[in-house]
Amino acid sequence: MQASERMKNRWSVWLLTTLGIIGATLFIASLIQTSENNLLCSITKSQFGRSPTSLQLRAILHYATSQIVPQQSLSEISVTFDVLQALHRPANFLVFGLGHDSLMWASLNAGGTTIFLEEDPKWVQTVLKDAPNLRAHTVQYRTQLREADQLLSSYRSEPACSPATATLRGNDRCKLALHNLPNEVYSTEWDLIMIDAPKGYFAEAPGRMAAIFSAAVMARDRKSSGVTHVFLHDVDRKVEKAYAEEFLCRKQLVKGVGRLWHFEIPPRTNLSRHDDHFC
Ligand SMILES: C[S@@+](CC[C@H](N)C(=O)[O-])C[C@H]1O[C@@H](n2cnc3c(N)ncnc32)[C@H](O)[C@@H]1O
Repeated sequence: MQASERMKNRWSVWLLTTLGIIGATLFIASLIQTSENNLLCSITKSQFGRSPTSLQLRAILHYATSQIVPQQSLSEISVTFDVLQALHRPANFLVFGLGHDSLMWASLNAGGTTIFLEEDPKWVQTVLKDAPNLRAHTVQYRTQLREADQLLSSYRSEPACSPATATLRGNDRCKLALHNLPNEVYSTEWDLIMIDAPKGYFAEAPGRMAAIFSAAVMARDRKSSGVTHVFLHDVDRKVEKAYAEEFLCRKQLVKGVGRLWHFEIPPRTNLSRHDDHFC
């Protein structure tokens, strides 16, 4: 073999070896990257279930940069949080009152329906300016806190307030019935109802009497399986406590944390259709 031919052969062997090494390196690197991606994917999926929604991201930004926090304590908020988690599905969540907790409730129920009912139209504008994704309606109450005792002692004499037949939509004869809410509030079966409004700390305020009565009627009218979870805040106050005992019932109280009571209210049965008491 001539010297030039030997050089040519050596050159070919060197070239093939180099290409082989580069190819093998690229192949191994791609395997490592694929398995890392799979690992990351499985961690992400197992930790979060699904990607955060824009509402949830907005909530993180808001609460990370705001000095103002919700009025309920962490342990009180956790009661509702645990129920939302345990449902394992997006829920229908009706909240009485707009406040510093609203973005939190809507984000904890991302993918579900969360609707807020607020008495003060100016406060609705203020809150929606910063959180336009929230769904809120203004509600006009026909009660005042100072009427609470009289309404409680007299409602049984008004047939339109009767536990056996009371309805809400258009029920203008029963003062405790929220009779002119938006249609979607009546047509939705609420899995959770949070009563943390309207204001109930001065005589001319609407008080929570109608919210509590109406939540009880909605829960008893439920047609789907399961119970309605009703959360009532400020149960250290006389009116909240008395109305809860009359309409939401001690026997349906499943948890009390701080100033929050949690009730599980089953749909009324054929037997209870003849009852003259809510409890
Ligand atoms: C007891 S607060 C509910 C507060 C709410 N849970 C929170 O954590 O912010 C009930 C009502 O007070 C009124 N309210 C609450 N914060 C307000 C504010 N900063 N300015 C004006 N009204 C407010 C609203 O009418 C609301 O429905």
